[in-house]
Amino acid sequence: MNAKINTALLLILLFLNPILFAQSQQKTVDQRVDSVMRLMTPEEKIGQLNQYSDDWTATGPVTVDNDKTRQVRNGQVGSMLNCKGTDRTRWWQEAAMKSRLKIPLLFGQDVVHGYKTTFPIPLAESCSWDLDAMTLSARIAATEASAGGIHWTFAPMVDIARDPRWGRMMEGAGEDPYLGSMIAAARVKGFQGNKLGDINSMMACAKHFAAYGAVIGGRDYNSVDMSERLLLEVYLPPFKAAAEAGVATFMNSFNDINGVPATGNSYLQRDILKGQWGFKGFVVSDWGSVGEMVSHGSAKNDYEAAFSAITAGCDMDMESRCYKNYLAQLVADGKVSMALIDDAVRRILEKKFELGLFDDPFKYCDAEREQKELNNPEHPKIAREMADRSIVLLKNQNNLLPLSKNTKTIAFIGPLVKAVKQNKGFWDVEVPGVDSSYIVSQWAGLVNKVGATTKLLYAKGCEIEGSDKSGFDEAVRIAKQSDVVILSIGERRDMSGEARSRSNIDIPGVQEDLLKVLLATGKPVVVLINAGRPLVFNYTADNATAILYTWWLGSEAGNAIADVLFGDFNPSAKLSVTFPQSVGQIPIYYSHLNTGRPVTNGDVPNTSYIDLSIYPKFEFGFGLSFTTFKYSDLKLNKNKISNTGEIEVSLTVSNTGKYAGEEIVQLYLRDLAGSISRPVKDLKDFAKIALNAGESKIVRFTIDKEKLSFYNQKLQWVAEPGEFELMIGASSSDIRLNSVFELVN
Ligand code: NOJ
Repeated sequence: MNAKINTALLLILLFLNPILFAQSQQKTVDQRVDSVMRLMTPEEKIGQLNQYSDDWTATGPVTVDNDKTRQVRNGQVGSMLNCKGTDRTRWWQEAAMKSRLKIPLLFGQDVVHGYKTTFPIPLAESCSWDLDAMTLSARIAATEASAGGIHWTFAPMVDIARDPRWGRMMEGAGEDPYLGSMIAAARVKGFQGNKLGDINSMMACAKHFAAYGAVIGGRDYNSVDMSERLLLEVYLPPFKAAAEAGVATFMNSFNDINGVPATGNSYLQRDILKGQWGFKGFVVSDWGSVGEMVSHGSAKNDYEAAFSAITAGCDMDMESRCYKNYLAQLVADGKVSMALIDDAVRRILEKKFELGLFDDPFKYCDAEREQKELNNPEHPKIAREMADRSIVLLKNQNNLLPLSKNTKTIAFIGPLVKAVKQNKGFWDVEVPGVDSSYIVSQWAGLVNKVGATTKLLYAKGCEIEGSDKSGFDEAVRIAKQSDVVILSIGERRDMSGEARSRSNIDIPGVQEDLLKVLLATGKPVVVLINAGRPLVFNYTADNATAILYTWWLGSEAGNAIADVLFGDFNPSAKLSVTFPQSVGQIPIYYSHLNTGRPVTNGDVPNTSYIDLSIYPKFEFGFGLSFTTFKYSDLKLNKNKISNTGEIEVSLTVSNTGKYAGEEIVQLYLRDLAGSISRPVKDLKDFAKIALNAGESKIVRFTIDKEKLSFYNQKLQWVAEPGEFELMIGASSSDIRLNSVFELVN
């Protein structure tokens, strides 16, 4: 083709696409956004703030609306969720390209722990304390999802959660703001990669802003009543960490905080997020949460709800249609300024530009790339490693584990042994055209692992729920024939997750009764507990020979469990959340205040129950290994620190057992006396180190003023002079070394 024809074609293209024409001379994203916004009518602007779910799968209450395609073609929709796969996203994008300005749609999806390759649930991953591994897990999810047409994941969920009755605890990183912040940043980096616009990056979304994890009674969607200090000190830090890591979007939350729904909360969204933190991305509502302000009783009708949300800084309306139906009226009535709407539109368009969608709306709709990434043989390997790293060894009496690969007969019993999809946990993605055959069941994992000389016997024993014990006899019969019993029990995968709050968090049904009859055979029993939250399982904890808390491990569950059972992977995970002995102890967390009557004060009436211990069953930071670690030689290079100074802390950790292994060394601090009471300990740093048998390593930490700071009575972030206790632990209770130092002016 000669140059003249080329130029002519380009001119025709530019003429056909007004946006390309308008921006052909523009350079920066800002300028390009300006050039588009100059062309937009108010209706088209409001359209950008409107997000719909596709009909195919829904992750919230569906509004029947057969008019969506027309609205997309009219430029009245800015984003779609729940449409995935290159065919479907291409189809919708083609509809958007029929609109006057051809502004591309954003496709969002809950890619919470993997897309096709399912990784362990986020709470499980968080027990690895392995930031690089979690970044990589999110990276693979982004690679696959972006190849499937997705631009935006509604993850990570960074809500601190201290109430295991709340089913969504499975989606987060546990109870601690420090660990939670590190993990929030790691996941954002993983999803977003080097930069938005790279073909395998997608926008992340820090959710749910804010304090959703503190719903009263652990009931999903419930109210939150919280002091500002708790909000600032415990619940907001992971969000701030996500913002600092460059997260592209935030999602607000269903709950109200002290009576003000988060969706209409100006203090959170305008003052803190967009004000103090200088967040430049956009905020999406949760599903229908704009309209739900009417049920909350903080808005009389959808008109008021739209007013409240847009004023408070919620830029995009997911599925409630309040923006679409009422923003234009609010502008006409002089209640909402066009500048407010422009600000929201600008934030959204900027992201569309950064993703490269204006240059090529079909950039992420490449069917060939989709096939390649969904079948990338490296991804299951990475998922398996992540799963290995997420399994917590809670008990290992007589060093029963690891099992020998030459064990003659193994009885593998329980309702979850042959389950396939259960292993994915809640918030898996149903990927178009993919069946579940790529998931490795626990049975298949064991079959893959053991040699030809090992006989594997199977009995289901019972269901997850219900009272039927008719399968017990068969289970006992095969247990008697075996050298060791492995029992796989727990929750159903959909017993934890959104709207899956439980008042009773015992292991359901007769599963613990099954364990009783199996133990009565005298055989050693390894129990695998599959769950999306900490469960209460005192009988199992006290009587099983060994326990692995496997959570939900994803598509490589079976292989990973077998890796740990047979010692191909030495477990290294530690709990990121406290396990109660009883639901009556909830909320329970390690970082509590001492009170004036701590139980440690002896026999005086104290802050205990008369019918229950106040101590957890398994504490935050706890997890065993096949090897043992010795901590020694704690050194502080000084015992006084100034406001600008630092203390170098070092200690030696030695592997004193027979296996190579990894240890998570935890550093806790306590401010011994301050202007307000401070927690008995706060995690302030940690190191995960690998040691061969017999090897020692020096671990170093640095303490500076930031680690000593807290919100004082006036909610100023300060470090007060005085003494601090430094504790180095293998868990929050198992403190191995300690020392005291002083902050001086
Ligand atoms: C409601 C959930 O709370 C939120 O986390 C999710 O991203 C949306 N639905 C979309 O599925």
